[in-house]
Amino acid sequence: LTVALLFGGRSSEHSISCATAGGVLAALDRSRYDVIPVGITHDGAFVLEDDDPAKFALTPGALPEVVDNGSRVSWPASTTERMLTVTDADGTARSLGAVDLVFPILHGPYGEDGTVQGLFELVGLPYVGSGVLASALGMDKHFTKTVFQQAGLPVAPWRTITAAEWAEGPETATAALDALGLPAFVKPARAGSSVGVSKVSTPDQLAEAMTLALAEDDKVLIESGLVGREIEVAVLQGRPGEPTRTSVAGEVVVSGREFYDFAAKYLDAPGIDLVCPAQLAPAELAEMQRLAVKAFDAIGAAGLARVDFFLTADGWVINEINTMPGFTPISMFPSCWLASGFSYPELVDELVDVALA
Ligand code: DAL
Ligand code: MG
Repeated sequence: LTVALLFGGRSSEHSISCATAGGVLAALDRSRYDVIPVGITHDGAFVLEDDDPAKFALTPGALPEVVDNGSRVSWPASTTERMLTVTDADGTARSLGAVDLVFPILHGPYGEDGTVQGLFELVGLPYVGSGVLASALGMDKHFTKTVFQQAGLPVAPWRTITAAEWAEGPETATAALDALGLPAFVKPARAGSSVGVSKVSTPDQLAEAMTLALAEDDKVLIESGLVGREIEVAVLQGRPGEPTRTSVAGEVVVSGREFYDFAAKYLDAPGIDLVCPAQLAPAELAEMQRLAVKAFDAIGAAGLARVDFFLTADGWVINEINTMPGFTPISMFPSCWLASGFSYPELVDELVDVALA
């Protein structure tokens, strides 16, 4: 089976994607798979990468990245061929062989948002994970919440402010903050890994938070800060005819940090513990798993997802769904599955098998 592993990409989560790729490259059983590692540079060039898990390890201070080596990988020009070709830096073109499946381990815009999924659909290549619409919905926090609300799922109150509204003056955003109350979170609509996210505890912090979020997207959410435990669950599509599967829950325990920010997620910054399985009453876990499957179905997701919740005094509130959750060695998605009986290589196999089923 030939798998093209796609990673890097144009979004601010480029390095996280590379770190996940390092883990997946190491986990793919080479007696079963031929692997074609395709990196996407920050500028969006498709390059043939080294099949070297160590090159993409996540080490604080040196985030891995795809560097332009001058090669260019081309996708099939027809739906009846599955051949990838590479033109090396010296201009020689050669075939990389036929691809059975693409594993797009990409986070953020131009990867997790349906755009690259559209490319695979156009050229007729099977791929791991959600399709065009679910990816686009899951990437956009405004539309995710709109769809969740419509499905009867509990979400935190929010207002969406566009760059154009903000450019007219702070009144709309200030009124939104007044209505929602403090603390609030300001988030770019389409980003991940907490890039561009700020906690606003006093009104004078709003302007800086808006500027930071608007650097990532031209649409920003102001969201009520929820008081409760931050708990996540991993979802895996079932085999044909089988129900969607959910893992045990994992909890993000924040102590001595404002929130679960980028540094805590990937740089091993202190003040965060991932506890898996989370301490929950069986009925609480069952309810969370039910809501997670409902969220997966609400956006029409496929393959895999991680659904993030807050457990508040009023019960579960859904924060978001991630259609391509990080699975670096320290990420929640593999940790939850490990605690549910899937090793990392088994999980990768399962994703491939589900995509091809
Ligand atoms: N966006 C990051 C990778 C996550 O959801 O895990
Ligand atoms: Mg996310």
